[in-house]
Amino acid sequence: MVDASPKAATSPARVIFLGPPGAGKGTQAGLVARHFGVPKISTGDMLREAIAQKTPLGLQAGPLMEEGRLVPDPLLIGIITDRLAQADCQAGYVLDGFPRTLAQAAGFGSMAVGRQSGGLLVLNVEVPRDELLRRLSGRRWCPECQATFHVHNDPPKQPGICDRCGAGLIQREDDKETAVTRRLQEYDERTAPLIGYYQERGGKAFHTVDGYRPVDTVFAELKGIVEGAL
Ligand code: AP5
Repeated sequence: MVDASPKAATSPARVIFLGPPGAGKGTQAGLVARHFGVPKISTGDMLREAIAQKTPLGLQAGPLMEEGRLVPDPLLIGIITDRLAQADCQAGYVLDGFPRTLAQAAGFGSMAVGRQSGGLLVLNVEVPRDELLRRLSGRRWCPECQATFHVHNDPPKQPGICDRCGAGLIQREDDKETAVTRRLQEYDERTAPLIGYYQERGGKAFHTVDGYRPVDTVFAELKGIVEGAL
């Protein structure tokens, strides 16, 4: 059982997760956010919500996401700028899925300056490719409350039913094979360069963590890193 019970932070926890699709960013971002009492901000969840609501953003993002392609940078920088301006982000936040390109990192860097005094912490989660494929093909997702499960690693109590809200679980369209291949290619070409970008700028605020371990073991290491930075 993962202990992510809330803990008051002494300075703002501002955390960015990096890592390929299926590395466990969303899982760990949720645990870290809950433990440190700050919001988890997932651009993937925000976009999926926009698609469900059929907003102009959702209509533009939907076909790209289904194919496993990234959504254009200006749209993402726009929604993150608006989200981080909200009151609940002023004491910190955990970003899951943003930034994802060098252009987004540059946009985020200038936005972050002067917004808050706490330093940015970058957590890069590494997992071997064959394990990523296993995790993505077995992931099941709740379209109502966005909870994530895995058919083998983290099955719901009742097969196909969300433990949290009782809705039917589905496989994300972009977890199907063709889209996964495209997402991994997008990661290699456009997101992986952020590792060098933040390694260079982050110094001691950049950490690479082995994500190919049980969820609670990975979380224990991440919690220690964030605590050490506050
Ligand atoms: P997004 O939703 O962000 O997807 P992603 O980055 O591809 O990440 P995933 O959600 O697939 O994986 P994850 O690392 O969060 O792993 P999880 O914890 O779920 O983005 C989707 C799309 O939106 C993008 O392709 C793009 O089109 C668009 N988009 C979003 N942000 C964008 C941006 N900034 N710019 C442009 N476009 C953007 O875990 C995966 C599975 O493994 C789960 O089943 C879980 O239960 C299991 N698992 C987790 N940890 C472990 C463990 N330690 N051991 C065993 N199993 C585990």
